[in-house]
Amino acid sequence: MLTVHVIPARFVLLGCIAIGMLPPANDSVHAATPQSSAYKPTVLITGSNRGIGLDFVRQLSARDWRIIATARTPDNAADLKALAGTDPDILIETLDVTDDAEIAALKSKYQEHPIDILMLNAATGPTGIFSFTNLDMDLAPRYFDVNAIGPMKVAQAFYENVQASRMKQIYAMSSDSGSFVGGSQFPILWHYKASKAALNMYFHTLAFAAPKRGVTVVMLHPGFVASNPQTARLPGAIPTEDSVSQMLVVMDAITRENNGRFVSYLGETMPW
Ligand SMILES: NC(=O)c1ccc[n+]([C@@H]2O[C@H](COP(=O)([O-])OP(=O)(O)OC[C@H]3O[C@@H](n4cnc5c(N)ncnc54)[C@H](OP(=O)(O)O)[C@@H]3O)[C@@H](O)[C@H]2O)c1
Repeated sequence: MLTVHVIPARFVLLGCIAIGMLPPANDSVHAATPQSSAYKPTVLITGSNRGIGLDFVRQLSARDWRIIATARTPDNAADLKALAGTDPDILIETLDVTDDAEIAALKSKYQEHPIDILMLNAATGPTGIFSFTNLDMDLAPRYFDVNAIGPMKVAQAFYENVQASRMKQIYAMSSDSGSFVGGSQFPILWHYKASKAALNMYFHTLAFAAPKRGVTVVMLHPGFVASNPQTARLPGAIPTEDSVSQMLVVMDAITRENNGRFVSYLGETMPW
């Protein structure tokens, strides 16, 4: 565990940014981090109390990163709190990605903190199988709020923090369900598919603006992951830790040239 303290490290980092000492944006420093004695990257993860988000916390804690681990209800986040009990660099914060006031409060709290990686992981997953005529369209706004609009609002709030960091990367946790070609070719998962397609289009569009700020935007497909009771009971689901470790391998290799890519946990380019 490194012993760099939060405030001095931030001032050193901001000072380095100011005088241009840092290497070019999006250097692939992820894998090198554990050996580094001077630099501790910061990641902000949404939906980090369970599933894929929680495993990112676990694996990035093992890499000695500083982790702003957000959850809707930290009081109920027993596993996350247990992890934070072993690592003082895991900072648990409240964030519902649909709550503008919570986004603003978190932004205000971390105003001066560079965020190397913004991991927009939180989402509401698919439920049930509905025929077209039984599909409840009144559920659609909630899917779009959580899965597409919320991530955009969080990205807007922390864009400058990402820009002020060394790695400058934003990841939108998408899904093959957001792909017209890669997703299931069946009349299922309506709202989930549509909301992930919207997420893809939002971040695909952001990727045209991001390079001006030195920021790289990537959409990830984590595979079919046994991260919750619904998926865990289905054949073919991969262990959560395997999905996350593979995504970290992919992320280790991300450079500016990958801006705008939609990529799987195996590093394959996903079709739109
Ligand atoms: N599992 C898969 O096979 C799979 C496949 C493709 C893509 N993905 C994507 O990967 C990401 C993580 O998936 P997962 O399987 O780990 O999901 P999960 O187990 O269902 O966990 C979802 C997380 O998002 C949080 N969340 C839900 N609504 C939220 C809101 N309004 N604000 C903030 N957080 C909220 C949940 O918090 P609460 O505990 O408070 O509900 C939870 O922490 C999602 O974006 C998902 O769409 C997963």
